[in-house]
Amino acid sequence: MIDIVILAAGKGTRMKSALPKVLHKLAGRSLLQHVIDTSSQLPEAAITVVTGHGSEQVRESIANPVNWAEQTEQLGTAHAVEQALPSLADDSVALILYGDVPLLELQTLEKMVGLVAEKSMTLLTVELADATGYGRIVRDAEGHVSAIVEHKDASDAQREICEINTGVMALNSDDLKRWLPQIGNDNAQGEFYLTDLIEIARNDGYQVEPLQPATEQEVQGINDRVQLAELECHYQHCQAEVAMRNGATLADPARFDVRGELTVGNDVFIDVNCVFEGKVQLGNNVTIGPNCILTNATIADGAEIKANTVIEDTHVGINAIIGPFARLRPGTVMADNTKVGNFVETKKAVVGSGSKINHLSYVGDAVLGADVNVGAGTITCNYDSANKSLTEIEDGAFIGSNTALVAPVKVGPGATVGAGSVITNEVPGEQLAVARGRQRNIEGWKRPVKK
Ligand code: UD1
Ligand code: MG
Repeated sequence: MIDIVILAAGKGTRMKSALPKVLHKLAGRSLLQHVIDTSSQLPEAAITVVTGHGSEQVRESIANPVNWAEQTEQLGTAHAVEQALPSLADDSVALILYGDVPLLELQTLEKMVGLVAEKSMTLLTVELADATGYGRIVRDAEGHVSAIVEHKDASDAQREICEINTGVMALNSDDLKRWLPQIGNDNAQGEFYLTDLIEIARNDGYQVEPLQPATEQEVQGINDRVQLAELECHYQHCQAEVAMRNGATLADPARFDVRGELTVGNDVFIDVNCVFEGKVQLGNNVTIGPNCILTNATIADGAEIKANTVIEDTHVGINAIIGPFARLRPGTVMADNTKVGNFVETKKAVVGSGSKINHLSYVGDAVLGADVNVGAGTITCNYDSANKSLTEIEDGAFIGSNTALVAPVKVGPGATVGAGSVITNEVPGEQLAVARGRQRNIEGWKRPVKK
């Protein structure tokens, strides 16, 4: 089994924030959540998160079943790992990760764990053009990793080394438990350095297997908001590339944001400034206009979502046309060939095939049959200040403009409602309902004049 230890006790001073650093978001998820989501995919893995600054807030933010360890004083990375030891098994492989290094790939973690053997541990290193501030990897004459020297403790010659310690390591838990107590804090920062493990392991006759990540960004830690923005940009660039490789043309890959999981069919077109949150599925030949926000939505083949449309927890059927400026709220199900036009809001609305709600309407808690036409300015009055009620409009009904449908109410198949009606009773099928004051024309009437 694998015991994952995630260090997340640091304050993150350079974020200049009341929010603990690991709770800042990248692509809509906290940095720590990224680490948990990736590492929890390892088989037979248990996770222990070490918190300190903002412990309570950090714990409340995570729903996954993890063990929590507390580091009340931040005395160094070795001291932090020590706090997690009580939840570690004896026969597991321990994998040390960091709550502020969000983009590590599962494959890298698998390799790290796979290289751990009797008498060997794994260390993730990377070569940087500018290694300032990082722990340097010292290799012996044969090229084997022999130690890590922190920047502040390094000699001028050691500071020339551009291979650095990412901090990520994997080793047998029993070795970790044996070695940690041997670490002291006699160094430039007076901290207990986890990096001292390397020398201790070597002295114990162990081999330290170095491994490199596929990209530098994988091991990029976040210390300030500039780095956060850079990594977000990199992440979105990767998401854009995936979408394009899977069949979507992006008007501008730099103005495209995925904050969840987006799947696309072939010949999808996505215009600029769209945001995809949660799970979003776009079928073949789907077109998304500029400035749309789609959250947990499925958009079927050939559907067109026009500019400035906001869609949440909704299904849009084949060849449907939605927007511009439409808002489809949770529970909306638009069947095939439906149409929703500008300034229309829907909520818990099931709309049958071929039906149209083209202008300025609110349709909530409603079930519409097929080929219904909802005129401009129609409102389903679904709320009586205490309860929500259902409006049912059956196949082929025609609702005149500016109609108020006071729910619960039903309009039968093929029925017609005259414009401006307030409908409080059932309209039987095929009949015309007119529910408004009748027009009177007053002959000889004079407008008031100013006194
Ligand atoms: C550490 C490594 C360094 C490596 C660098 C990579 C050590 C001694 N040094 O340095 O070799 O190049 O990371 O970024 O390990 N943390 C705690 N409790 C503590 C101290 C730290 O939870 O008492 C957490 C921090 O929140 C942070 C991480 O551990 O997420 C790294 O700590 P930090 O102080 O940033 O270490 P560095 O000096 O960057
Ligand atoms: Mg750091």
